[in-house]
Amino acid sequence: MPTTKNRLKNLAIIMDGNGRWAQQRGLNRTKGHEKGAEIIRDVTRYCAKHPTIETVTFYAFSTENWKRPKLEVDFLMRLLDRYLQNELATYQENNVRFMAIGDIAAFSPKLQARIQTTEEATRNNTDLIHVLALNYGGRAEITHAVNNLIKAGKKEISEADISSALQTPYSDVDLLIRTSGEERVSNYLLWQISYTEFYFTQTLWPDFTVEELDNIVTDFEHRTRRFGGLS
Ligand code: IPE
Ligand code: IPE
Ligand code: MG
Repeated sequence: MPTTKNRLKNLAIIMDGNGRWAQQRGLNRTKGHEKGAEIIRDVTRYCAKHPTIETVTFYAFSTENWKRPKLEVDFLMRLLDRYLQNELATYQENNVRFMAIGDIAAFSPKLQARIQTTEEATRNNTDLIHVLALNYGGRAEITHAVNNLIKAGKKEISEADISSALQTPYSDVDLLIRTSGEERVSNYLLWQISYTEFYFTQTLWPDFTVEELDNIVTDFEHRTRRFGGLS
């Protein structure tokens, strides 16, 4: 066991299992997404109060999620709009800055406007950056970053160049949690997870609690991180 605790600065979460949670109850999958959105609020409050967490990034919609039935995709878009409308107060009360990553140009003008106004309204909040990954894919993000560097006239690209051209306000995730028992990355934050600690839990996202999160954070704080060196 390490003598000093690891400092958790950048947390990322793959919120998975909404559909299965609903299906287990004989409900429509959309009910799982609704319950899941409530959990984001609890986790955001926990992260804002936590002494070391600076950012939390939630995977809300992947570049691959367009493959789902149109009814489910449309529901998720409406839920997101409603969520941002309702959560503005939570962000302001908890001094949380909201930020979106991913290609939001694919969304309706109304939803894009909602995302932009929420970003602007919370720009000066400093306790936590709450990032939602929306129409996000790790490969798309890296490709976009490299294209921007080429457009800026770069002939040779360093790792630091790529890190700074990414959309995330950090270049390394400390801890990645995935709920629902699936143990895969699903195109999330590919550049940023090179030395991330992973935690997979069987809990479905709508059943996830801040008590479980607190236990996972403690587990992370006591892991031995070597970064290729010797402990
Ligand atoms: C995660 O839950 C939410 C999104 C991907 C939008 P799922 O909808 O993937 O739930 P399962 O995996 O089908 O249970
Ligand atoms: C990952 O979950 C994407 C989000 C949580 C938004 P999926 O449910 O889409 O991932 P796969 O398809 O099981 O890998
Ligand atoms: Mg899933």
